[in-house]
Amino acid sequence: MSGIFLLAFMAVPNAMAFPWVAGISGIRSSSGLESQLAKRQSTCPFNANHVAAAPITSEFPYAGAQNGLPSTLRGNFQVPANGDTAHAFVAPGPNDIRGPCPGLNTAANHNFISHDGVTTFAELLDAQQNIYNVGYDLAVLLATLGVGLDGDPITEKMSIGCDATSRTSATGSLLGAEGGLDTHNKFEGDASLTRADFFFGDDHTFNATYFAQLTALAYNGGPKTDVINSYSYNQTVVAQHQFNRYQNSKATNPNFFFGPKAILLYGAASFLYELFPSHGPDGAPAFIDLGAFYGTTNPDANGNVVFNNTEHIPINPTGGPGWFSRTDAYNISALVVQVVDLYTAHPVLFGGNVGAGDFDALSFGPITNGQLSTITQDVLCLLYQLATDNVPDSLGGVLTLPSEVLTFVTGKLNPIFANSGCTLVSPL
Ligand code: HEM
Ligand SMILES: *[C@@H]1O[C@H](CO)[C@@H](O)[C@H](O)[C@H]1NC(C)=O
Ligand SMILES: *[C@@H]1O[C@H](CO)[C@@H](O)[C@H](O)[C@H]1NC(C)=O
Ligand SMILES: *[C@@H]1O[C@H](CO)[C@@H](O)[C@H](O)[C@H]1NC(C)=O
Ligand SMILES: *[C@@H]1O[C@H](CO)[C@@H](O)[C@H](O)[C@H]1NC(C)=O
Repeated sequence: MSGIFLLAFMAVPNAMAFPWVAGISGIRSSSGLESQLAKRQSTCPFNANHVAAAPITSEFPYAGAQNGLPSTLRGNFQVPANGDTAHAFVAPGPNDIRGPCPGLNTAANHNFISHDGVTTFAELLDAQQNIYNVGYDLAVLLATLGVGLDGDPITEKMSIGCDATSRTSATGSLLGAEGGLDTHNKFEGDASLTRADFFFGDDHTFNATYFAQLTALAYNGGPKTDVINSYSYNQTVVAQHQFNRYQNSKATNPNFFFGPKAILLYGAASFLYELFPSHGPDGAPAFIDLGAFYGTTNPDANGNVVFNNTEHIPINPTGGPGWFSRTDAYNISALVVQVVDLYTAHPVLFGGNVGAGDFDALSFGPITNGQLSTITQDVLCLLYQLATDNVPDSLGGVLTLPSEVLTFVTGKLNPIFANSGCTLVSPL
């Protein structure tokens, strides 16, 4: 085995340098992972009856975001609103696609994006604002990364999980496979909070072992079955868990890769305590918040859960108030502060393994010999660069953006980053 992995990380000619990209034959195929990927594509759920997201209405306006435009209303609204049956929870069926992002899985289960998991750029903007009060700038950044890396830049469609190219692409795959958010080392990466590394076979399904580790850190005394009082998933806890996941992957995954896009993992980690809280204090969600979005059962006497396929917006079990979005929009500048905070709590090296426990650091943009600059402006510009530049996706290669993707991402992001002070890429 180890010989294969060593080979995979050598500097190899261009086409061979993309072992993770579906459809490109390479040395990785000899490890069997590529055939696993092919199998997953052929088994990706197909819902012949695609229904678009349920739009907001004047009766239930939420943040007022529609048609991909900025929100018009303030936050701190209840989701779903009382009586809004169009956005009630509906569990995913066997033909619905779900993936590595609990925020989007939940949005699909509540019809804020298409319930089948094949969504659009505009739906993604509206849903992020109308459910979570994500700022327009951050909503555009995340949707651009999602659609640009894992979807179709022409139709602006994207699968929130497995490869649904037949439904996201207008050109019949001229641009190659559009793998969806499950695709490894595009947006999805190693050392995720509750998902295993791609190397271990499944990078997108909730793993209760990792969730139990997070929950053990969040435990603050009292009965472990108390979903209101006994757990607090604050920044300290999330930073520690992210660090533990990194150490575990580095020690056990011979293909471990923690590239520049891993700053997105810190961003996603901040969503736990920035976007999910409602019933705990600000910045510290209770179990009923986290367990709901992650779709788990309630903890047993040992604090363990199982996945219940019910990723949903929390309901207060005591019959009290439901779930309310945060008051101030969570924007890019606030996110950048959290990325730096989470990283500085436990600094780690960016890079990858060339064998189990055999780690090489990388340099790219504000990452020097594996160390990330903790200047917020540097991290801000790296976020732009992740979408617009050719970014390393393994120790041996970079992911080259097709011109259609570059046109799409610069068109979306240049207005958002116009006054950022970052060097912008000219649209093609
Ligand atoms: C268009 C917008 C979005 C896209 C394309 C997106 C995509 C992703 C992807 C690809 C991952 C996997 C990253 C990894 O490897 O760990 C992820 C993780 C995550 N996302 Fe999203 N996301 C979006 C918006 C959101 C929002 C609005 C929230 C919260 C309200 C959210 C919450 C999370 C969380 C908590 C994780 C970590 C999952 C875990 O491992 O436990 N995401 N997202
Ligand atoms: C979850 O992760 C643990 C620890 O790595 C692993 O042993 C287990 O097989 C995983 N469970 C599932 C359902 O993938
Ligand atoms: C965060 O939560 C943990 C676990 O509940 C607790 O021990 C710790 O005091 C909290 N930290 C802060 C800064 O609130
Ligand atoms: C688990 O799912 C079942 C049925 O889908 C549901 O009745 C139950 O309330 C769920 N449990 C939790 C804690 O959400
Ligand atoms: C971002 O959010 C912060 C905190 O709410 C706010 O002070 C700031 O003005 C916002 N920035 C932009 C560019 O909207």
